Amino acid sequence: MQPYTHKYTAKSAKDIIGQDEVIAKLRNFIANFSNEKKNSALIYGSSGTGKTSSVYAIANELGYEVIEVNASEFRNAEQINLKVGNAMKQRSLFASGKIILVDEIDGLSGHQDRGGIQAITKLIEISTYPVILTATNPFDNKFSSLRSKSAMMEFKPLDHLSIFNILKVICGNEKIKHDDELLKALARRAGGDARAAINDFQSLTQGKKEMTKESLEELSGREKTENIMSALNRIFKTTDLKIAISAFDNVDEDLDQQLLWIDENLPKEYTNPKELAKAYEMLSKADVFSRRIRRWQHYRFLIYINALITAGIASAKKEKNKNLVEYKPTGRILKLWWANQRNAKKKAIAEKIALKTHSSKKDILKSTMPYIPIMFRNKEMGKSIVKELELEEEEVGWLKKMSA
Ligand SMILES: Nc1ncnc2c1ncn2[C@@H]1O[C@H](COP(=O)(O)OP(=O)(O)OP(=O)(O)O)[C@@H](O)[C@H]1O
Ligand SMILES: [Mg+2]
Repeated sequence: MQPYTHKYTAKSAKDIIGQDEVIAKLRNFIANFSNEKKNSALIYGSSGTGKTSSVYAIANELGYEVIEVNASEFRNAEQINLKVGNAMKQRSLFASGKIILVDEIDGLSGHQDRGGIQAITKLIEISTYPVILTATNPFDNKFSSLRSKSAMMEFKPLDHLSIFNILKVICGNEKIKHDDELLKALARRAGGDARAAINDFQSLTQGKKEMTKESLEELSGREKTENIMSALNRIFKTTDLKIAISAFDNVDEDLDQQLLWIDENLPKEYTNPKELAKAYEMLSKADVFSRRIRRWQHYRFLIYINALITAGIASAKKEKNKNLVEYKPTGRILKLWWANQRNAKKKAIAEKIALKTHSSKKDILKSTMPYIPIMFRNKEMGKSIVKELELEEEEVGWLKKMSA
């Protein structure tokens, strides 16, 4: 099946939604290139906002040919000169002009690729066609020369209504029944990234003619789990603390959950007892901090906790476990829940006794409750307890279990 991002990619600039201003600027730059002071435009902005597709859409509209050069090709000066040089010499037979696109220059790293960045700079200087560079983060130092040579054009993250409109078009074409509010909810969670939204939409309507609430919920659940699993993977499988420390940055699961996930899966990854003990020490320190936060609202401890459960745990091992480990959600939550349920009944009974005896629930829990199950063992006494306290069926069940 064809990805919707291809099937519905913009054919002309009007198909690009929510970027009118920058599109006008870019079109102007290309169409009036001979009057421009700069030889290149650097278009930048976060992922999935329409940078690459805008270049093609505008070229399509103007009847231009796009010569796309992969940024990494610039590492090989000869190869690049050949490719771009030829393109510049040959007049296009059919197209009314050419654009040289160097997409995603982010991948070029400073030192190693100094040659590559220089080669791009050179290309900009000599090019007789507009050169368009794209980047998600152009403000890195390594790009300073490219920045000063280029007209800077920003693609803003898309607001959720723009993304909603993009999805709406696809819904119409694919004839998928949907609720607008649900579609907006999907648009909202993409965080300004149209590609992500379209892919999510396609995955949750795959083979269906309808988008349901359940499929959206399932998607969120799946994503949350995937995110936490990849965070665990980063912590457990690396010894590079810089990599580990940001593991939870994009995980939207609360701290308690993070601790529980680590707790559950740590012993499967760290099989060396010494390392395991060290890692658990980190985890228990984090747990202590987390209780302090709750008690005293010391939110600045969050930063220690994060360091402990990421870099701390990562550093507890000498080398990573090479086996593939399947992470599981914690079983402890369920146990806690059961414990709470049990306590709930105990507390309910204590409350009833307190009411009858005009004492405090706290006192009853401490002084009387331990004896109740023992008294309950006596059939007669048991009956009168149930009657006197007007116990509910579930409370009787609890007493039965406790006294068995
Ligand atoms: N503003 C938009 N209007 C309509 N569709 C869009 C828009 N932005 C993105 N899309 C859709 O998302 C897909 C990805 O967009 P595109 O490749 O242009 O993003 P990008 O900004 O180049 O992202 P990256 O930085 O990841 O390369 C496109 O094929 C298109 O379907
Ligand atoms: Mg792109």
